[in-house]
Amino acid sequence: MERAARDLRFCSYSGDRRTKLQTQIMEVRSAHHNERDEVLDLLSRWYGDRAFFERYNRLDPRFRDELCLVARDGGQLVSTVQIFDRAINLDRQAVPTGGIGSVFTLEEYRHKGVASALMRLAVDTMVREGFEVSLLFAERLTFYNMFGWREVERKFSILAAASSLDVADHFVIDSFEIERDLGEIAAMHRKYSGRFNVTAVRDDSAWRANLKFAGNQPLHPGEGSEEYFVVCRDGSRIAAYARVTRFHGVSMVMEYGYLPGGVEVDAMLATFKYLGQSASGLPVTVRTTGDHRRASLLHSSSKPAEPSVLVTHTAHDPRLEKALGDAGCPVAHHVDNNYMWRVLAPDKLARRFAMAPAAASAHAFEIFADSRSVFWTADRF
Ligand SMILES: CC(C)(COP(=O)(O)OP(=O)(O)OC[C@H]1O[C@@H](n2cnc3c(N)ncnc32)[C@H](O)[C@@H]1OP(=O)(O)O)[C@@H](O)C(=O)NCCC(=O)NCCS
Repeated sequence: MERAARDLRFCSYSGDRRTKLQTQIMEVRSAHHNERDEVLDLLSRWYGDRAFFERYNRLDPRFRDELCLVARDGGQLVSTVQIFDRAINLDRQAVPTGGIGSVFTLEEYRHKGVASALMRLAVDTMVREGFEVSLLFAERLTFYNMFGWREVERKFSILAAASSLDVADHFVIDSFEIERDLGEIAAMHRKYSGRFNVTAVRDDSAWRANLKFAGNQPLHPGEGSEEYFVVCRDGSRIAAYARVTRFHGVSMVMEYGYLPGGVEVDAMLATFKYLGQSASGLPVTVRTTGDHRRASLLHSSSKPAEPSVLVTHTAHDPRLEKALGDAGCPVAHHVDNNYMWRVLAPDKLARRFAMAPAAASAHAFEIFADSRSVFWTADRF
């Protein structure tokens, strides 16, 4: 474990001309355990939502201090970059994946190379800790390009007519209860999501943690980051499920699954129909049982007139897309390239894929960019 503080000599600049105005010595290193609160205080300066970051830092059992990188200037932490410990499916192997998130520098310390130093340390740390690939979600693509991440296109799906899906009416939408339903849902996740590349692998502890921290930052303060988890019953068994949150003001189905098989896709359609009706404020015609108070997440309390479409991923599952279209809800795609990947350990990938390192790295990027791959929003960090 590398605990030694690194010295960072950095210069500030003015205009186009990079002039060494000052040289300082700053610590750039992994956080100490007793700095956890200070890291959250720093992140709360980003957009005033300490609780959002706290859920990941406190509720993820795989969060550890070595993966929380900080820059300290004397008495204060001035920047942080965090590595989230995940595993993803690549060609049916669970590959250790470092997710980069919570990248933040105090405003008065920006443009001095502080986050750059932390990003370089993040790469070294991930290699040392055995991560083989890294994922991040970014708006500043060129910033992350400097450290080796490359943007990859992926498609979001917009379901504008889910409420009018024409589906069988014997399904019942229930609310998820962890102790009653998790075993069945985890098995369905392994069967459904496990078929696709790039999905996160979750054991029981990862599932329980994910249920505590998934969700996302609300667009409007007070809208919460909670999730609404529904299961679709076909008689006594669960035939489909969906997890919904409010993401930047839209209803985001951040993960779903259904049993593979001929008629089971209908259970998925019934689930989307129920969610579409709830989001539109239309009378719900799909049968329900259980506690559905969280269905209010499908509406924006501050902007009730916001569009009530469902956003999710479906491109990985052409059969489902066809079934949606055939039942009256054609899928529209929105292409996004805020999705960035980096290979950290070409040699390890080479052994996994039985290829030369350069070919293995290229193969990994083919998988990341393949429309049949999916990374659920529920696994975001
Ligand atoms: C993004 C962020 C973390 C960058 O932090 P930073 O410490 O200023 O980063 P750096 O100084 O290492 O690099 C920032 C920029 O300065 C440039 N830079 C770095 N060192 C420099 C130097 N010595 N001289 C001139 N420019 C320099 C980099 O090229 C980079 O350019 P860009 O802003 O046009 O992309 C910071 O702006 C921030 O906290 N923003 C709000 C939170 C956020 O958006 N996080 C990222 C989400 S994707």
